[in-house]
Amino acid sequence: MRHFIYFSSSATTSGKALSKYADGGLMKAGRMDIAIHSFIQAVYLSNDFRKDVVFHFIFYGMPDPPKHIQIKVTDNLGLNKKDVGKIIQKILYKYRSGEKNEVFEKCFIEKKSFMKVVEELINEKNEIFILDKNGEDLRKTKIPKNCVFVVGDHEGLPKKEIKRLNKNYLIKKVSIGDKIYFASQTIAVVNNELDYRNI
Ligand SMILES: C[S@@+](CC[C@H](N)C(=O)[O-])C[C@H]1O[C@@H](n2cnc3c(N)ncnc32)[C@H](O)[C@@H]1O
Repeated sequence: MRHFIYFSSSATTSGKALSKYADGGLMKAGRMDIAIHSFIQAVYLSNDFRKDVVFHFIFYGMPDPPKHIQIKVTDNLGLNKKDVGKIIQKILYKYRSGEKNEVFEKCFIEKKSFMKVVEELINEKNEIFILDKNGEDLRKTKIPKNCVFVVGDHEGLPKKEIKRLNKNYLIKKVSIGDKIYFASQTIAVVNNELDYRNI
């Protein structure tokens, strides 16, 4: 399985807060626009979606951080690209304290930190790759089937947590080139590289 983790230090963590910005104000909801673009690049193909991708949003914005939203798109979700913001909003509304709530089939919300989400994926035998301009060339990197790619929002990834992960686990930083790309662009490149290699 391919996993993508999208980390945002500012994306809003309540459905009510997101609904305030729904009409064209997603930039004010902690750059929810970047989160949505990243999700679209991770999961959609033209006229289809990727059944081998699990997408994780980790939001640290106000009013109730952190929130982990996990989505594996299924036929039943009937998700249209235009609806992604609405789906995130509905899932945020359905957060239940102390639970990992399955809001739609294979779509969950829970209170869980970035570190915990990554550690759980490591324990499930996935290899972690941090997307970083200064990392090893993606094209030269060996990638197993069970892989997790971690990407930051416009403010990047949390330095303290990345340092801790590097200290405690075998984590690789991978780069798609010398330019700084949008989070969504890096995800599109990774998906294409994995498709090319038939991973
Ligand atoms: C717009 S960039 C963030 C820029 C932010 N100012 C920083 O310094 O990290 C969004 C994310 O895309 C990924 N990214 C951007 N350019 C990349 C590159 N050349 N190689 C690998 N990942 C990249 C990183 O994960 C980054 O956190």
